[in-house]
Amino acid sequence: MLRTQVTEKLEDLSHNVSSEWINQRLNDCVEKIRSMIPRFEGQFPSACTTNMAYRVKNNDDWTNGFWTAMMWMSYQVTGDDKFKQQAQQQLISFQERLDKHFILDHHDIGFLYSLSAVAGYRVTGDYQSMIIQAADALLARFQEKGQFIQAWGKKGAPNEYRLIIDSLLNLPLLFEASKLSGNQQYAKVARAHYQQVIKHIVRQDYSTYHTFYYDPRTGTPLKGATAQGYSDDSCWARGQAWILLGMPLYKRFNPDMIEKGQYQHLLNYYFEHLGKDGIPYWDLIFDDSSHEPEDSSAAAIVACGLIEADQQQYQQDGIVYAKGILAALDRYRTISGQEGLLQHGVYAYSEGKGVDEANLWGDYFYMEALMRLTNLEWPTYW
Ligand code: GLY
Repeated sequence: MLRTQVTEKLEDLSHNVSSEWINQRLNDCVEKIRSMIPRFEGQFPSACTTNMAYRVKNNDDWTNGFWTAMMWMSYQVTGDDKFKQQAQQQLISFQERLDKHFILDHHDIGFLYSLSAVAGYRVTGDYQSMIIQAADALLARFQEKGQFIQAWGKKGAPNEYRLIIDSLLNLPLLFEASKLSGNQQYAKVARAHYQQVIKHIVRQDYSTYHTFYYDPRTGTPLKGATAQGYSDDSCWARGQAWILLGMPLYKRFNPDMIEKGQYQHLLNYYFEHLGKDGIPYWDLIFDDSSHEPEDSSAAAIVACGLIEADQQQYQQDGIVYAKGILAALDRYRTISGQEGLLQHGVYAYSEGKGVDEANLWGDYFYMEALMRLTNLEWPTYW
């Protein structure tokens, strides 16, 4: 791995991160979540905060699973049945959502159901049929022409004939379904889709496109484009973060895969384009002179990616750098009177959505990274 001032700084910072340090922060997360429950009971927090408070919403976004997963993690940390009951109650609405196919015309079925149903399965052994039902809904979005899972919109909508980088986090649901059912079709589709992502989303300089279009008539690969980044040619920070977690996760389900070299190039690109405090601006095109908002959520995702990469032998000392990132995020933690766990995230800059706010996935991945570090054997929800 390339050594830069930033990687040296992260290495230095990692020395602050003891077991006690981790446990203290994890307990702070649990208590913050506990304090939020009364306002959201029976419903869900919105995807991102407004003035550092979440809005109360139904189970109708791509982000609801993050909240449920934080219930499961809080239960695993404390053994307090209150968290388990919350998660179980929320799972009822996930089942209803699936049965009604309510706002599920997108690939984020993986984010939703890995973090609610697979998480529930890890903790209780239940929810197997919900996992398969959700995986079926995701499988149904596979486009034979082009061999990819369509990201957004009704299946086959001609202007939505594309995949997106975030999808890598939706593939574990398919591998889980194959494991549970013995039906290898889920895994086969996940593998076909993954090949398309790696082939077309990664640019020659190891930056990444956010989305990639295909010709709906022939399946011919057409062009990369952004949706949430600065421009089609720039590198959306969270996109790079998704691949830095998605690749080692894929390796977990496909142990024969060897993409260590490619992974390290992608990681180098990320590290070379960070601000000096080790947290990315919302697009990696920006540097410290830009005064653009940072995206703390991308950093939290990369921390999880580095732990997984270390475990999958993609990045030696990944855990050291993950600890450094968590230490760098220390001053981004929310303070009293604010909701969420991490300040200074960006959802969709060009839409003015969730800019310099907390968001549910930033909260979730921050807590996931802490959970992973308390016990490297902890079975994640992916
Ligand atoms: N998966 C959507 C996002 O990262 O904003």
